[in-house]
Amino acid sequence: MAGIKNSESSRGGFSNKFGFIMAAAGSAVGLGNIWKFPFEVSDGGGGAFVVMYLLFCFMLCFPVMMAEIALGRKTNKNAVGAFAANGHKKWAGVGILAVLSGSLILSFYNVVAGWALGFAVEMFSGNFSVGSNFGEFVGNWHINLMVSTVFMFITIYIVAKGVSGGIEKASKILMPTLLFLIFGLMAYSLTQPGAIDGVKFYLIPDFSEITFKTAYGAMGQAFFSLSLGMGALITYGSYVGKKDNIVSATSMILLADVGIAFIAGLMMFAFIFSQGLQGQGGGAGLIFTVLPGAFESIGPVLGRCIGGLFFVLLSFAALTSTVSLLEVPVAYVVDEFEIRRSRAVWIVGAVIFLLGIPSMLGNGTVDFFTNFVHYHGSNITVNFMDFIEDLASDTFLPLGGFLVSVYTAYIWRGDKFKEEIESGNPGFATSFMGKYTIFALKYLAPFILGSITIITILSKFFGIHLID
Ligand code: TRP
Repeated sequence: MAGIKNSESSRGGFSNKFGFIMAAAGSAVGLGNIWKFPFEVSDGGGGAFVVMYLLFCFMLCFPVMMAEIALGRKTNKNAVGAFAANGHKKWAGVGILAVLSGSLILSFYNVVAGWALGFAVEMFSGNFSVGSNFGEFVGNWHINLMVSTVFMFITIYIVAKGVSGGIEKASKILMPTLLFLIFGLMAYSLTQPGAIDGVKFYLIPDFSEITFKTAYGAMGQAFFSLSLGMGALITYGSYVGKKDNIVSATSMILLADVGIAFIAGLMMFAFIFSQGLQGQGGGAGLIFTVLPGAFESIGPVLGRCIGGLFFVLLSFAALTSTVSLLEVPVAYVVDEFEIRRSRAVWIVGAVIFLLGIPSMLGNGTVDFFTNFVHYHGSNITVNFMDFIEDLASDTFLPLGGFLVSVYTAYIWRGDKFKEEIESGNPGFATSFMGKYTIFALKYLAPFILGSITIITILSKFFGIHLID
């Protein structure tokens, strides 16, 4: 009942803690878990990467996530307004950065989500060869325009329905379905011959593989996967009731996200090894190139069903994430410019959709966007989608996380932050957890996230490799 007061306000709110957890877990669980996590593991050396990833999630991301949610709930405001409402107008720039990164991430994320949707149709119709023709698929702008338009429409539709009637309701249906589907597929994949080698690669860490680079990749993945660093959780936090327990909600969101990534990885490596596709190099195409073949081998009818379902699942996971990405700029526009939600959603959604078109055309359709830039000190050209990803997700997210940690620990200050968490969780301030959280926000997060931001900027854009 804690959220009732909140949901009565004109901004809307989640109907209770469970609704919030579903929506926030829905935001976290997405392409990052099912599409990105497996290929990051594969490129990052298997089990060693997984260990680093888990460590970062629990030691570092947990405190940062609490800071975001607490700031949102304290102020009842969007990512930009939250800083001003908390008495620090100058820090609103951090929120602007958040709105910007959210919009940029959504612009390309929607294109990839469109692929998932397109692949669902291809699998149901039995066109398994689309996997080996992945390059052709992404280069076909007719199909891409169609599927990504559909995807953006559904996202807009849900966000337009508001916080409890749209976002929460959709998440409550989509998340359990997703869980059910992914468990089924995992069980199936593990019964395949040769799957066990995949499980070994995935789970037995080779600690000699732990390098700075692994740590760096694992950190980036953790941030992206948990939807941190761009105000998504400040925004969602603003719809949470005062009596809700932020610590336990954060734990649930984290466990859901890590759990689903873990299961997705298990399923993927079982499939990869049983198909004899290991060592082919992963890359962004991994699930799109590997899985159709795996589904084909299941048999003509069952393969279509399982394959189709898999990509439906992927689309569902992506949908609750696109919804959260769109909600960040929408909440900003609704709060700060007093535009009606229904109108704001359409305007913002349309702008972001247009922003995504170069990403769509940069996979071979238009040369200008395909060979968009080459960074200083590198002779490889980067396409538009990768450029936006490098900028918004690899650079802005750690930077955003750094700024939020510094803000919470030094500007808002630990005591006030703990006070906010205490509401719904009395005793937090003096608990070990409370002390650790402050320590992490004061020292650990600024140091690690600050270093990562600097290393990323230097190595990505200027060809100066501090680590190798
Ligand atoms: N976490 C989502 C995923 O793993 C993507 C996402 C949604 C996101 N909202 C975000 C990433 C906010 C960063 C910030 O697919």
